[in-house]
Amino acid sequence: MPAKSQPALRITGGAQLTGSICISGSKNAALPEMAAALLTEETITLSNVPKVSDAAVMGEILTRLGGSSEGSGTVALNMAGAQNSEVPDDLGRRMRATILLLGALLGRFHKAHVPRPGGDDIGARRIEQHLRGLAQMGARITETETEIIAHAERLHGDRIVFDLPTVTGTENILLAAVLAEGRTEIFNAAREPHVQDLCRLLVKMGARIDGIGTERVVVDGVTRLGGAEHTVIADYLEAGTYALAVAATGGELRLDCSRPEDLNLVLLKLEQAGAHVEVGDGWFSVGRRPDTRLRPNDMSTWTFPGFPTDLQAQYMALMTQADGETVISEYVHENRFQHVTQLAKMGAGITVEGRIHAVVHGPARLRGTQVAIPDIRSGAALVIAALCAEGTSVLRNSWHVERGYEDMAGKLKSVGARIESVTVDQASGAFGHTYE
Ligand code: EPU
Repeated sequence: MPAKSQPALRITGGAQLTGSICISGSKNAALPEMAAALLTEETITLSNVPKVSDAAVMGEILTRLGGSSEGSGTVALNMAGAQNSEVPDDLGRRMRATILLLGALLGRFHKAHVPRPGGDDIGARRIEQHLRGLAQMGARITETETEIIAHAERLHGDRIVFDLPTVTGTENILLAAVLAEGRTEIFNAAREPHVQDLCRLLVKMGARIDGIGTERVVVDGVTRLGGAEHTVIADYLEAGTYALAVAATGGELRLDCSRPEDLNLVLLKLEQAGAHVEVGDGWFSVGRRPDTRLRPNDMSTWTFPGFPTDLQAQYMALMTQADGETVISEYVHENRFQHVTQLAKMGAGITVEGRIHAVVHGPARLRGTQVAIPDIRSGAALVIAALCAEGTSVLRNSWHVERGYEDMAGKLKSVGARIESVTVDQASGAFGHTYE
């Protein structure tokens, strides 16, 4: 890549999507599962780990802590040699999931130094519930502007009540509780498929967990955990993204290696909007004939099994093509409408009302243009918009998309999209060479 150039996606709209895509493993499951390897000196072998940059960063962090992380796709993690409980600052700040190392390091070493987590700028992304829960379990925690430092002489179970079901907060308490003394009860626990999958891995390692997938999870601490082999759950957010994409462009996609049962509400919304949905065991298909108009359909995000916030931006892109007004309400993150400005550059009519509501005025005739991707899911929304737009779009900062989607350009190309990875000169905006 030439100096000062950055990765981008070049997309020419107007093509229908047809064919099948195999869905990769879930990023948001793989990251806490990789962190769980810290809890044993035996090997944890994870298969179906998505080839995304966040998983590579987590592997690098675990290596820098003194362990080993080998392979991609199937990753063998062995943390027997780990002695370091300080997460390197340069890597730790690159993603939100770093915060999961707090619970895992406390579980393993009874101490942790973790930089304040980075990741998408989609709201305050508070962590006080993680810290309060860990403090209840015996950790002394000091927060500075740049890091979180925790020590615990002994970790013990307690009754942890969350104000709201935080995903990484639930995962952090689980990672600390499995090796803590006595019983930990988590009330108002997050129930997302990736939280459930982490529980399943921990059980394979020897943890005692009841209530998996419910809002009350009970962990009885054990004194040691062993190695395990585990297949990372299919990514319902990747599957949902392609389902929303084909509803927007028209055509028919079969999403193999997927779990439609994790997408009940999204599939209902798609049907209500006018798409055709068929569900099987480990696959589903979504189609729309180009002459079937899309109906507007209001949507509010909520924690699982509600409509996922991580598909809100993509749903908004779809609703720009619907015949009328759609009200979209974002109740999970405080600041998750960054895609609106970029969608507007492509010709979408969207009014944001306060921090929670956005009104999409469809149908919009979208035009290809140059836009900057602000975060992972906004990137996916802009890809959908560009696939529907007249002409060619260039989506800068596509590294955001690579953090969470395995080979999005390759997968979409295989079903008929005109999409390629390019480089763009930062200063002039001129295209560089294509790279694959
Ligand atoms: N919150 C608090 N206090 C806390 C924890 C959370 O007020 O102590 C608030 C947050 O500020 C936010 C809401 O609760 O408004 C939800 O936060 P949560 O903790 O559930 O989110 P997260 O754990 O930071 C994970 C995913 C996100 C996904 C959310 C919600 C990972 C690594 N990240 O984040 O994924 O949006 O859950 O489902 O699992 C993405 O993949 O694009 C992504 C951003």
